[in-house]
Amino acid sequence: MIGRLMGFLGYGGEESEDRYSLFRTTDQIFAEQQKNFCSRFEYAVDTHGLKVVAITSSIAGEGKTVSTVNLAGKLAGTGRKKVVLVDLDLRKSDLAKGLRFPSIPGVVELLQGTAGMKEVLREVQSQGLAVIPSGRRFSDPWELLKGERFREFLAELRDRYDVVLLDTPPVVPVSDAIALRDLIDRYVLVFRLGYTPHNLFRQSLEDIGEKKLLGVLLNGVPPRSEKYYQRYYGKYYLTQEQG
Ligand SMILES: Nc1ncnc2c1ncn2[C@@H]1O[C@H](COP(=O)(O)OP(=O)(O)O)[C@@H](O)[C@H]1O
Ligand SMILES: [Mg+2]
Repeated sequence: MIGRLMGFLGYGGEESEDRYSLFRTTDQIFAEQQKNFCSRFEYAVDTHGLKVVAITSSIAGEGKTVSTVNLAGKLAGTGRKKVVLVDLDLRKSDLAKGLRFPSIPGVVELLQGTAGMKEVLREVQSQGLAVIPSGRRFSDPWELLKGERFREFLAELRDRYDVVLLDTPPVVPVSDAIALRDLIDRYVLVFRLGYTPHNLFRQSLEDIGEKKLLGVLLNGVPPRSEKYYQRYYGKYYLTQEQG
């Protein structure tokens, strides 16, 4: 089956500047869903021996950053894994803002050689999580990402951490996330229900390819309807495969 389901996220509360504090969500269902996603994720990286995982989506606004931050926080919070979270969505970098970190210096400065690893690494103390923000906005990230420096950067993170989570740009409008496929062990594709056109979701699945896809995270699932969407998702794929 293509794109096995990795988890569900419902509605985590009002959209606000403080959205990444979903770490501390008081919504029990949402907290439980995050925990389930994290458990499946941990199991998958353990069984397949994975390290570098990109969280992506078809288009912007599907919940990549929210789900990546929460996954990283939960995973680091187990105390079993040393986790680093990297903001590679260099055109629309909002990860640091959500975490109330300065976003500069970050990946951009590191790749340009004006900052070292020590300066770009931030710590979320409560979670034991390391975060590398994007740095200053950069109009043509591919110029930086395609270079040798980026390869070395990822290699260093592979050495130092158990899990490297990449918050990447969406795959339909820009090709960066897919162009980096040789450096990435697997992708998790976020699909926001009622938001993303199905044909774009399908296109992203094809772009990523079955071998590189760890699974799909369904976001925006209405309360108490996980079973329905599990079936819906299964049927959707059967229809796709037959058709
Ligand atoms: N499950 C959710 N519950 C509540 N708000 C959400 C949820 N998923 C995403 N959002 C909101 O939608 C917006 C886009 O999410 P974000 O993670 O920034 O998307 P992306 O990184 O894919 O562009 C944010 O304002 C975020 O708070
Ligand atoms: Mg984002």
